[in-house]
Amino acid sequence: KYARGYFMPPVKSLKWTEKEYITEAPTWCSVDLRDGNQALVVPMSLEEKLEYFQLLLEVGFKEIEVGFPAASETEYAFLRTLIEQDLIPDDVTIQVLTQSREHIISKTFEALRGAKKAVVHLYNSTSVAQREQVFRKSEEQIIDIAVNGAKLLKKYAAETEGQFQFQYSPESFTGTEMEFALEICNAVLNIWKPTAENKVIINLPATVSMSMPHVYASQIEYMSDHLHFRDNVILSIHPHNDRGTGVADSELGMLAGAQRVEGTLFGNGERTGNVDIVTLALNMFSHGIDAKLNFDNIPKIISIYEKLTRMTVHERHPYGGELVFTAFSGSHQDAIAKGMKWREEKECQHWTVPYLLIDPMDIGREYEGDIIRINSQSGKGGIGYILQQSYGLDLPVEMRESFGYSVKNVSDRQHKELMPNEIYDIFIDEYVNIN
Ligand code: KIV
Ligand code: ZN
Repeated sequence: KYARGYFMPPVKSLKWTEKEYITEAPTWCSVDLRDGNQALVVPMSLEEKLEYFQLLLEVGFKEIEVGFPAASETEYAFLRTLIEQDLIPDDVTIQVLTQSREHIISKTFEALRGAKKAVVHLYNSTSVAQREQVFRKSEEQIIDIAVNGAKLLKKYAAETEGQFQFQYSPESFTGTEMEFALEICNAVLNIWKPTAENKVIINLPATVSMSMPHVYASQIEYMSDHLHFRDNVILSIHPHNDRGTGVADSELGMLAGAQRVEGTLFGNGERTGNVDIVTLALNMFSHGIDAKLNFDNIPKIISIYEKLTRMTVHERHPYGGELVFTAFSGSHQDAIAKGMKWREEKECQHWTVPYLLIDPMDIGREYEGDIIRINSQSGKGGIGYILQQSYGLDLPVEMRESFGYSVKNVSDRQHKELMPNEIYDIFIDEYVNIN
């Protein structure tokens, strides 16, 4: 593994300090099987959920929200299958979502029978818009919903065998006045009274992201500074991506005090999705930080993800997209080819190749076919690199420029990308089959 490591900016001029970097991985919680699944055109079947669960285990998630068991038969049956077939490894904690209504909470605990441990995740909506338009309830009534739910979780957990940790989300947190969000979270905490042995998760969702990332981060910081029992609270964030800033929201949220992040693979989830954990984790990796997730084989993860979600990973998706390590243009190809050569000669400890944030091989991508591809925008460096890599042909310097033009012209006329065998054929036609 050859991470780039941090490029420290000139600290004085930018007014940054080392503290303003992420230095360790948060606790990751995958919500693919709940938030991700509920946003699919066709939600996953039980068998598909089982296969996806295995994928999440392979990636290394230790906390997985497996669904909303009181919401549908499949969700219920999926949780029962995981428990009855003993499919949950001892070092993995499953999480289930519930609303604050007694029949739903009781069904949730019924679905959890036999689970060794689980996080039970209670939520209710707290924003001004939801309070006024959807629930038509006062602040006191909204607090009552949360407090009653918190009491019911305590009661049912005491009556059910197993180790249960509690989580509370003020849903629509970003549309909630911070003082009210704090009041309702503290009211729940006062019921649960977390201890060092039994911590509580307070999860602050950007249910709809509404502000710039630093504003969300300030909201997280405010909560982190004022929550009761703070030492025994695990502060979690759950960013969505409505403004396209899910990753930035998460990174700043972590700097602001979040210890845990809920998200999904490739950002599947409601509307524009949940935050993409692949990007977040590999951003950390690119800075030399162990994200504690395994993305060694991104192509395999993508193929299972696409099969089960019936969605595609965009060609430009950070890290995973088919084209994100590819250079077609001449100057980029030239710089990459030189950077690769430099690496070999200098035996670099860090990854320093221009235009490539990380070594694509670190996540299971191939150099061949992935990095340098040839079309009319390409240059002699890239074309030479392909002949060298695919056919072991080192073109003499004098030939490179004119051969480069020949190849570019063919691509331009045919208006298509050229594969290595086609480039080789042009070479043979031009330099070998001459009469
Ligand atoms: O986005 C959201 O607010 C949620 C909650 C249920 C945590 O998914
Ligand atoms: Zn969500």
